[in-house]
Amino acid sequence: MALRTNQDTSRAAGTLGSCVENATDREALLTVSDLHVHFVQHRQRVYAVNGISYELAAGRSLAIIGESGSGKTVSCRAVMGLLPPTARTTGSVRLDGVELVGLSEKQLCRYRGTGVSMVFQDPSRSLNPTMRIGPQVAEAVRAHLPLDRREARNRAVHLLERVRIPAAARRCLDYPHQLSGGMRQRVMIAIALACDPKLLIADEATTSLDVTTQAQIMELLLELQEQSDMALILVSHDLGLAASYADEVIVMYGGRAVEQASTRELFAHVQMPYTQALLQAIPRFDRPTHTILPVVEGRPPDLTHLPTGCAFAPRCERADDRCRASAPELAAPGGGRHRFACWHPCDEPAPDGRHESS
Ligand SMILES: Nc1ncnc2c1ncn2[C@@H]1O[C@H](COP(=O)(O)OP(=O)(O)O)[C@@H](O)[C@H]1O
Ligand SMILES: [Mg+2]
Repeated sequence: MALRTNQDTSRAAGTLGSCVENATDREALLTVSDLHVHFVQHRQRVYAVNGISYELAAGRSLAIIGESGSGKTVSCRAVMGLLPPTARTTGSVRLDGVELVGLSEKQLCRYRGTGVSMVFQDPSRSLNPTMRIGPQVAEAVRAHLPLDRREARNRAVHLLERVRIPAAARRCLDYPHQLSGGMRQRVMIAIALACDPKLLIADEATTSLDVTTQAQIMELLLELQEQSDMALILVSHDLGLAASYADEVIVMYGGRAVEQASTRELFAHVQMPYTQALLQAIPRFDRPTHTILPVVEGRPPDLTHLPTGCAFAPRCERADDRCRASAPELAAPGGGRHRFACWHPCDEPAPDGRHESS
């Protein structure tokens, strides 16, 4: 949840948008093509990710946005090769020229932590509560580099300094419970950096933090990204966060990408009614504090029985029979890079001249 004004949003999107043109020339570090993941569970299939494609170059950031259960984490775990044995993955995930889909567990082990690292939502559950933080970071260092204990400890202090933990050498002796939530998340980021990743995935990494700490952690991630030309994937349910920090955005619904564009383009011309609903749910300073925030009414789709039509149709005030009968493909009717999957995008008048609330 980010509190931002429209002005902040357009400024951030503008600054980032200006580098989009320069960066599109760069060869992709990560290419995900038609990624599908389903789980086999109690003789049922859970269709968690249903055809996601994107490219991400070094030094660029992508936000994956959507409600809980929309397939954000599963799609990122597929990029990490971190899915349980019940998962069936098809499509392609190429990182730095290496195809990951179809690798054996042994091959994946070697790959994990060299090219890509992930930071999760809850740092207190990821850290060992009985171990001081310095040795925890040093352990991560030694898992990747052939260093002796002293060298690993020095490198751990260096990493804790990089994530701006004050008096890092002294804080190494602290246990996780002696640190604030924000500081614990910094430790997790230091651990993620231990292997010098080319791609860092932050999965709701700031969700459990207060707004100020959230912003500090996001600034830190961007700073680290700039320093080492890392690619960054920011996973969040918060579209406002994407607006402020990511170059590109994918909005997911029911395991599919329903809208995908540069952040600037997305905010200038939201097309998918679901994205619009998420946008209206962002708290804004220009609304009175007593205003009840509109939420996206209704329930997300049942991923064991995906509908033949648009999965958002039952919750969409623009939906008609066509939407219920067939699911639109993700496409860019304008010919640009702004793609969306909607028969009745927001730029067009509502079907049947329907009156819409805004
Ligand atoms: N190990 C699993 N087995 C069965 N279903 C799973 C598993 N992991 C995730 N899912 C299902 O996949 C869907 C997408 O989950 P997830 O990617 O975690 O959503 P998000 O991160 O967007 O909240 C959810 O319906 C979830 O219940
Ligand atoms: Mg998740």
